[in-house]
Amino acid sequence: MSFMKAIQIHSFGESDVLTYENVERPKPQMGEVLVRVRAVGLNPVDVASRKAPLPFTTGAKGLPYILGWDIAGEVIALGPGVTQFALGNEIYGMPRFPNEAKAYSEYVSAPVSDIALKPQRLTHLQAAGVPLAALTAWQMLFEVAHLQAGQTVFVAGGAGGVGHFAIQLAKWKGARVITTTSTRNVTFVRNLGADVVIDYTKQAFEDVVKEVDGVLNTTTDKHVFRHLFQVVKRGGWLVSLRAEKAIKELGDQLASEAAVQFFLPLVHPSGKQLAEIAKLFDDDHLKVHLDAVLPLKDVAQAHKLSEGGHVRGKLVLMVG
Ligand SMILES: NC(=O)c1ccc[n+]([C@@H]2O[C@H](COP(=O)([O-])OP(=O)(O)OC[C@H]3O[C@@H](n4cnc5c(N)ncnc54)[C@H](OP(=O)(O)O)[C@@H]3O)[C@@H](O)[C@H]2O)c1
Repeated sequence: MSFMKAIQIHSFGESDVLTYENVERPKPQMGEVLVRVRAVGLNPVDVASRKAPLPFTTGAKGLPYILGWDIAGEVIALGPGVTQFALGNEIYGMPRFPNEAKAYSEYVSAPVSDIALKPQRLTHLQAAGVPLAALTAWQMLFEVAHLQAGQTVFVAGGAGGVGHFAIQLAKWKGARVITTTSTRNVTFVRNLGADVVIDYTKQAFEDVVKEVDGVLNTTTDKHVFRHLFQVVKRGGWLVSLRAEKAIKELGDQLASEAAVQFFLPLVHPSGKQLAEIAKLFDDDHLKVHLDAVLPLKDVAQAHKLSEGGHVRGKLVLMVG
């Protein structure tokens, strides 16, 4: 049996439950590749799954549990039946979400359907910041909302992981983008291509935004959520990312009153979409911003930063 370092939890709780320890190294099964992980991306769902078992996953119900989904690294072994990847390929992905992927590790076994060749222009650190947030932006805008060129989309919360990709993807599609940030991120989102930037510390978006075709809400702010419905035109759409029962009930009621289509979807893995996203990076249509890079063993510090709620772009853990 061979071992590796990983961040594991033995109970759900605050960041002190994150322990850096030796665990068994996985072996690639049918249709999987073994990845030597170079970097791990951190997402708010990592923090949520540290605090309590996620309602929408079969993963974090058993303990001990290895957190995380976003990886970038090299293929070092092929499971039976794998022809899509070769030894030495540099890949990135969000394997198995929302089930346990064990990404906070030196080695991860990943289904080939959930990974793609990493964008060549990106380092492993940059690539690890991409999968979950970029797939979310892609799927919400293009699969769920069917955003079209010429439409106007309001990205509520443009400076975080999902928001900073959503602005760029909507602009690439030919849409007009309105977004909100705090003062320190106004220039950041403008440089990503946002056409109208509202500093939410100075102005209420509902006083400025009117009759947009759709909204992508990346914020968890209940006040923001309530007011989003009044800025969408009748027959428009509102996609929100915070899947809670109370939000679903309130959203359904407000959507019906405003005659707006309301969606609360969950991101899913897709190697195919990650390959398309990689091409956008390589063609210089997309950029990833890393707010901070920390060693894997300092994951507790990264979780605290994420819980602060004001990460600009992405947080990434360096593995080796
Ligand atoms: N349903 C799904 O499948 C799915 C997928 C991905 C993410 N999510 C959820 O979506 C949310 C966003 O994810 P993320 O990775 O983008 O998070 P994140 O990177 O942690 O987002 C932080 C950003 O939110 C901005 N923000 C905070 N309060 C705001 C407000 N009132 N108005 C405007 N912006 C505000 C901050 O900008 P300022 O510092 O400028 O305030 C910061 O840049 C999380 O709750 C996450 O769990 C759901």
